[in-house]
Amino acid sequence: MSSKNIIILGIESSCDETSAAVIKDNKLLANIIANQEVHKDFGGVVPELASREHQKNIVPVVHAAIKKADIKKEDISAVAYTQGPGLLGSLLVGGSFAKSFSMSLDIPLIEVNHMQAHVLAHFIEKEGETNDKPAFPFLCLTVSGGHTQIVLVKDYLNMEIVGETIDDAAGEAFDKVAKILQLPYPGGPLVDKLAKEGNPLAYHFPKPNVGELEFSFSGLKTSVLYFLRKEVEKNPQFVSENLNDICASVQFTIVSILMDKLEIAIKKFNVKTIAIAGGVSANSSLRQEIIKLANKTNCKAFIPPFEYCTDNAAMIAQVGCYKLLEDDYARLDSSPKARMKFSE
Ligand code: KG4
Ligand code: ZN
Repeated sequence: MSSKNIIILGIESSCDETSAAVIKDNKLLANIIANQEVHKDFGGVVPELASREHQKNIVPVVHAAIKKADIKKEDISAVAYTQGPGLLGSLLVGGSFAKSFSMSLDIPLIEVNHMQAHVLAHFIEKEGETNDKPAFPFLCLTVSGGHTQIVLVKDYLNMEIVGETIDDAAGEAFDKVAKILQLPYPGGPLVDKLAKEGNPLAYHFPKPNVGELEFSFSGLKTSVLYFLRKEVEKNPQFVSENLNDICASVQFTIVSILMDKLEIAIKKFNVKTIAIAGGVSANSSLRQEIIKLANKTNCKAFIPPFEYCTDNAAMIAQVGCYKLLEDDYARLDSSPKARMKFSE
């Protein structure tokens, strides 16, 4: 099937963002995202609350996307939804909606792997845009609240995880340290902001000793906690007096752990193109460091626009386009999966 006159509706509901997007002939026409504020006071996403918010948001968000795209729902060729990985209750809301939508309009349903979608966010293009895109094969460092992966991307739908975290994800490390510092959830963006005014070398936190392409972030949270306990005993105002330096030093440690491993992978797989994706790719230090690493290793670096870093349905619709071209449709018994591999 050619991509002419193809309209894909994308639906994302894997965590705490409800999103719908429309892509027509490979150009993004609308990408509507409803964020959930209810989790702020809980220090993390509360799964039950997330599902309820998705239920409230899904219909208005889809309506808004169709309206913004200025299309009729009858013109939609297929609906692509996030099948997993993610929170099961959240995935069920988007999944059930997508399935009913495809059945009522008698159009194909397409299952999308959320992590694959983060990688393919690099190929999203708006009307009138022609972006430079990563050439295959490339390595993508996908860093979000739930995952930290180095992915060898051989083609749009052919990718392999070559390195992964054995415990916490990089985004989780940002969020957990932020929680220790009594910052609201999600802490990543706040740590990034506070770090801008701090000294990244003020405090030293050890890097983990794990396998060649493995990551580990649970020890960092513990060492920050013990370090602060000791300092606060000496000076109860330590955190408030040194917040910028603490954030900058933690961020420096997380980003250098990520860059060390990516450098090993570049040499191992001999690639000439590298990329970052996922929520943590919005981090200003990571965005700077990947360019430095690309210069050092003679690679070209790709950084996604901010709007496609955190969860969005544009990336889901983008994968939908590639799967539609391969007639890769879901069966009627398609159901969400909390855990999911690329090959499923
Ligand atoms: O991809 P995403 O929106 O959701 C998941 O699939 O997990 O990623 C969310 C994660 C959160 O942990 C959040 O703190 C982190 O991305 N994040 C950041 C920044 N912006 C978002 N972490 C560090 N610096 C940022 N600027
Ligand atoms: Zn995500």
